[in-house]
Amino acid sequence: KEAILVAKPIVYVTRRLPNEIISELTEKYQVKMWEEEEMPVPRDVLKKEIAEADAVLSMLTDTFDEELLNMASRLKVIANLAVGFDNIDVKACEARGITVTNTPDVLTDTTADLTFGLLLATARRIPESVDVIRKDEWKTWSPYMMAGSDVHHKTIGIVGMGSIGEAVAKRATGFDMNILYHNRNRKPEAEEKLGARYVSIDELLAQSDFVVSMTPLTEETKGMFDARAFDRMRKSAFFINASRGGVMNEADLYQAIKEEKIQGAGLDVFENEPIKSDHPLVQLDRVVALPHIGSATVETRNRMAMLCVENLKRVLDGMEPLTPVKV
Ligand code: DGY
Repeated sequence: KEAILVAKPIVYVTRRLPNEIISELTEKYQVKMWEEEEMPVPRDVLKKEIAEADAVLSMLTDTFDEELLNMASRLKVIANLAVGFDNIDVKACEARGITVTNTPDVLTDTTADLTFGLLLATARRIPESVDVIRKDEWKTWSPYMMAGSDVHHKTIGIVGMGSIGEAVAKRATGFDMNILYHNRNRKPEAEEKLGARYVSIDELLAQSDFVVSMTPLTEETKGMFDARAFDRMRKSAFFINASRGGVMNEADLYQAIKEEKIQGAGLDVFENEPIKSDHPLVQLDRVVALPHIGSATVETRNRMAMLCVENLKRVLDGMEPLTPVKV
């Protein structure tokens, strides 16, 4: 009898991932990988690879639009290593029978921890204070040196009450905070469990000491934190963004802080990433800027990567993925 050689399906991984993750794939699939860790795969390389791939394990830095998807003749699944999927035209994927998956739940607590840490760091001026010692500027203890703002017993306003928003609210209960939220739909369980109060976006902006964006980037949320929104906030308030840079207008935010319409901001995400140190926003003392590290712990990144692996295996085996994205 003649042996029939069946080519293994091709999985393209758009960034270098640890061997333990990749070895989960190599038995059944031919794995190709963009070997860089700190540089996204260039568009022209991705175009070439996607033409041959049956599955892609992608990063939020890769844009999957019509142009790219038109080159994907055999692609069945894009497993995105993020809960957010604004980098992918999901409708265009649906039209082509390509399944999109994301990584919800496994990163919820980790991202909420970082968000709350960013809020604390911003209010209590922790990075500025670290710099005082690093730069040898500490002359003596003094009563108002690096005096920040209290967090406990203040009002937090969470915009986007998905599971990460709820996990941030849970942390806020430990600080005896008054919790407001705004969301597409009300969350009665969160109201009951966390004592969170649903309010309109304008009321949230007007009442909160900390306005925290946990909302995904969509057509509706794009640029929602703009001059009008910052004008409605308290002069003493802080804006915290740990969701997506595209929900805020950075030029308006800069202006609002500069003109002391609000007190400061804690930002883990930016309109254009990576933001550079000479960007006017990052130069402001009362801005704490982080390089998009919301879910960046080794444990969580491993869980996210394994969930991507499981999702793409399932789709290639003709099964429902664990966490499909639906629009
Ligand atoms: C996500 O999962 O969408 C985060 O932004 C990545 O940490």
